[in-house]
Amino acid sequence: MNITGKPKLFIPGPTHVDEEILNAFTEYPVGHRTASFSELYDNLVSGIQKVLFTDNTIYLCTCTATGLWEAAVRNTVRKRCANFVCGAFSSRWHDSTVMCGLPADAIHVELGEAIKPELVDNTLATGKYDVMTYVHNETSTGVMNPLGEIAEIMKKYPDVMFLVDMVSSMSSVKIEVDELGIDVALASVQKGWALPPGFSICSVSNKTLDISAKCDNKGLYFDFLVLDKYAKRSQTPSTPSIPHMYGLKRQLERIFAEGLKNRFQRHSDLADLVRAWALDRMGLFPELGYESATLTCVENTKGIDITDFQDRLLHKGYMISGGYGPLKGKTFRISHMGDIMLTDIEELLSVMDETLNEMN
Ligand SMILES: Cc1ncc(COP(=O)(O)O)c(C=O)c1O
Repeated sequence: MNITGKPKLFIPGPTHVDEEILNAFTEYPVGHRTASFSELYDNLVSGIQKVLFTDNTIYLCTCTATGLWEAAVRNTVRKRCANFVCGAFSSRWHDSTVMCGLPADAIHVELGEAIKPELVDNTLATGKYDVMTYVHNETSTGVMNPLGEIAEIMKKYPDVMFLVDMVSSMSSVKIEVDELGIDVALASVQKGWALPPGFSICSVSNKTLDISAKCDNKGLYFDFLVLDKYAKRSQTPSTPSIPHMYGLKRQLERIFAEGLKNRFQRHSDLADLVRAWALDRMGLFPELGYESATLTCVENTKGIDITDFQDRLLHKGYMISGGYGPLKGKTFRISHMGDIMLTDIEELLSVMDETLNEMN
């Protein structure tokens, strides 16, 4: 059991939240139009810029990542959006683009496959699109798409806006936003940042702001120009979740105390360990070479009763996820992002082995 007396979360969001972070949430709020608030705001922005290797503007938003999906497309699409789809979340970004009334096409690959440079190149070469959306880590299939290779292709298309969902990779994997030329990088905080849900982060390029000025019908809450006006004063347009900001401040301190390099290495080591376990006991769902560094999607090659497996683990104080949508019964997912440590994973894997033996 967790410190809270609740099962420890090994699901890909919300992820495990450490006690120190929970405690930071209880700090007495400051007024959001005060100097103390702006000091807190600036502290967070400079920390996030370091984690994302960017000088781009950072917006702190009181919403989940789904809100920022809408923000990203509403502030950029004028011609047509290419939504690259490799699973449930990338598919939902496409749905949200269409539901915002914007012209868009979904460009699909099979579940378990990655979105590769050739597909992006061929799609953008049609000249039909001024925006593309790319989900770095497809949480439903456990595929980590080759962001660096795609960024190389994007250099051929400087007029196409490059919007990236890093919901389940931000802060866990090294992503150099400026080097990669990413126009909008977005994530909610209940994944790799390991905070409770309800808050999101995005970095936005100057190019995006220029385009946003030419976009109509952006609404108020997610208009980047409105967010930008307030960001320049180190404020948010409306009252933000100040407890999240205290939590994020504490988390950034912890991230820099661990060291970014060590943090990225820890995630890579955890992924190696879980993948080795999965390959030894069953199989991996994602195509070879594109397995996520933050969660492992195990293919149920032995045909175990996954619901029973999950229930037994839950009873012992560990929560893992089943397969998402059409992958229910076929896969299960183990998250190893955020504040999950080596000892946590070793303990989980050993309990999973013990539980599989009981089920035999
Ligand atoms: C890759 C990805 N994108 C977007 C989302 C939606 O995020 P939120 O629930 O914060 O709106 C999720 C949620 O799991 C996700 O995994």
